[in-house]
Amino acid sequence: MKLTEEQKKRIEELLSQMTLEEKIGQMNQESPSIVGGFDVPFEELIEMMTDGRISKEEFGRIMADAKQDYHEDDIRKGLVGSLMVQDPVKVNELQKIAIEESRLGIPIIFGLDVIHGFRSVYPIAIAEAGSFDTDLMERTAAMAAKESRAAGVAWHFAPMVDVARDARWGRVSEGPGEDPYLGSQFARAKIRGLQNDQSSPENYVAACLKHYVGYGACESGRDYNTVSMAMHVFYNNYLKPFEAAVDEGACTVMAAFNDLNGKPCTVNKFLLRDILKDSLGFPGFVVSDANAIRECIVHGACEDDMDAGIQAAQAGMDMDMGTEIYVKNLKEAVESGKLSMEVIDEAVRRILSVKMWLGLFDHPYVTEEAMKRYETLPVEHTDLAREAAEKSIVLLKNEGNILPLDKNAKISLVGSLADNKEEIIGAWAMSWQEKDCVTILDGMKEEFPNVRYFECGGPEGDLNMNEILAAGDYGDVIVAVLGELVSMSGEASSKADITIPGRQRELLEMLLTTGRPVVLVLMNGRPLALSWESQFVPAIVEGWHLGIQMGPAVAHVLSGAVNPEGRLSSSFPAMTGQCPVYYNHPNTGRPGSKSKFTSRYLDAPLGALYPFGYGLSYTTFEYSDLQVKETEDTVEACIKVKNTGDRSGKETVQFYMQDVAASLVRPVKEMKGFEKISLEAGEEKTVSFSLAKKDMGFYDNERTYRLEDGKFRIFIGKSSVDCLMQEIEVQF
Ligand code: GLC
Repeated sequence: MKLTEEQKKRIEELLSQMTLEEKIGQMNQESPSIVGGFDVPFEELIEMMTDGRISKEEFGRIMADAKQDYHEDDIRKGLVGSLMVQDPVKVNELQKIAIEESRLGIPIIFGLDVIHGFRSVYPIAIAEAGSFDTDLMERTAAMAAKESRAAGVAWHFAPMVDVARDARWGRVSEGPGEDPYLGSQFARAKIRGLQNDQSSPENYVAACLKHYVGYGACESGRDYNTVSMAMHVFYNNYLKPFEAAVDEGACTVMAAFNDLNGKPCTVNKFLLRDILKDSLGFPGFVVSDANAIRECIVHGACEDDMDAGIQAAQAGMDMDMGTEIYVKNLKEAVESGKLSMEVIDEAVRRILSVKMWLGLFDHPYVTEEAMKRYETLPVEHTDLAREAAEKSIVLLKNEGNILPLDKNAKISLVGSLADNKEEIIGAWAMSWQEKDCVTILDGMKEEFPNVRYFECGGPEGDLNMNEILAAGDYGDVIVAVLGELVSMSGEASSKADITIPGRQRELLEMLLTTGRPVVLVLMNGRPLALSWESQFVPAIVEGWHLGIQMGPAVAHVLSGAVNPEGRLSSSFPAMTGQCPVYYNHPNTGRPGSKSKFTSRYLDAPLGALYPFGYGLSYTTFEYSDLQVKETEDTVEACIKVKNTGDRSGKETVQFYMQDVAASLVRPVKEMKGFEKISLEAGEEKTVSFSLAKKDMGFYDNERTYRLEDGKFRIFIGKSSVDCLMQEIEVQF
């Protein structure tokens, strides 16, 4: 986030003119609040929908008539620094009040959860990370930046870069999976895509790294739950993607709801100031998560609003999302000497710096032309959404090479998810339009002239036996689209049972009894426990929630027009009880094996059912001739990869290492690189990796970075469990 000397001067001049109230106003983020238009309090309306007294549709109709308070009066007083609004007309209206009717005319920064696309919704992060294509990750982010800027949204509450190892947690869907290295590459790519095209203020936005930090380690996978971990685990895993993204230039950070080892992140000075702002040199501002400052009272870390506001500001929390604690308490806190003006000035300087860097002072409004720009999505955007979807699909099983399907096959397409535009979009998609969405049914009709749809059932509700029989009668092959509703993953969606929900397994059993080959296409936001399906269903395709082009992408993979190339960014357990399950774990003194007295379950297999990095192709690849050597500053490794099948394909060659003996036990594997290559049938390539020795170390509990001579194992292969290995002695 580079500012010119002129811009810095403008900020200092503004600061010198601002009253204390106006300064604190910049630290306040508001959302439009519902002020009625219906005859019950808003909270009760939510209750009524939650407990089913009114349907979602009825709730939507009532909300459509709701009156909203956009805090216009507070904007006029200079008491609103940021708002969550996505309609460009409303953005301009509110911005005009800030610019023309407040005393100093400081522009508002409008923020939104643009997690995986604005209008052109692309795959959820857990899926896109599995493309192992950082160029793609960057391009999709850049597309989202342009589309959202044209709606006046200059700040994305994204990327979410929480390392997550427990699939019971619903928010695994929002992030790049279990591995800190892949998560770091994903984070860097997203920062570049969102922030780097500064050729015009219409092309870039401020990113927001979230949730800082350790949120993915919430105990038992239950959202918002407490987080406790050894600091060496924290430094070497959960902090890594944030470290990488700050280094890439991220402009804002959102603190996480959870406590870390007893101190809520929101009021955690060690995390916000010592690590983030001082050690990592983060130049932007930190925003709380929604209502999180007040929740520090509920945590038991603060007495009351005043205490929570002072603790948060002193800890380095620059902006308050949604509680108004700052605007209602910090003036008194400063005037009573409980809070220094330096703390306020630093926060405001950071906030104004981001606004200045975004060009909001000189270009605060959305132009008429920009508003119309994406009324119809450009074909390049639709194509990119489809490319991302196709590259994120993972082939998990293909017994007897049922797939790809013959284009003229009679296909019974089964499952309500196959004909649902809303469900392909995934969690946290806020700005999509039905007209842009292509369901799996639509996509299949384009690709397969003899496909016929039989709903039969879905993630909720009963099964339709007649339709199941009809599906069995019609198709030579059955494609069953099953999995989770969007509402079953994402925030506040932890699950204690992550098998396929509802009566869908029963549906699968019935489909299998028809004797037709069954292809299971999964639509889900988290790894599922697929022990039964992996035994009885001959072909399984992981489709995730792929966004507006899910339909064509799935159809192209099923027809073989596209050879699946996705790999898993998160391990899939065989059974829920294995969670958390992940590949980069310590060995223990008794690593799990067939022997009884080892680290294993009596009633579950060892390790993941489908591990990190796993994925099949319509062709096959063979690895040979691993060579490893040490140079002064690096460890060099290379391997031969051959396409031994009869069609071209893409392979993600994965590079791992193990520090075999160290002053703290290290994981059995740590990803240190990957390279995606294309190989024609019969073609062989040599793939090389160069690992800098400085990257082979680890942090200890005191955050001392350690490079310790000794034996290392170098692995290269097609997944975290399928590698060639060589040992090497390394001197640092
Ligand atoms: C939510 C989420 C966070 C999101 C914020 C604003 O509670 O935790 O990811 O950015 O509120 O919607």
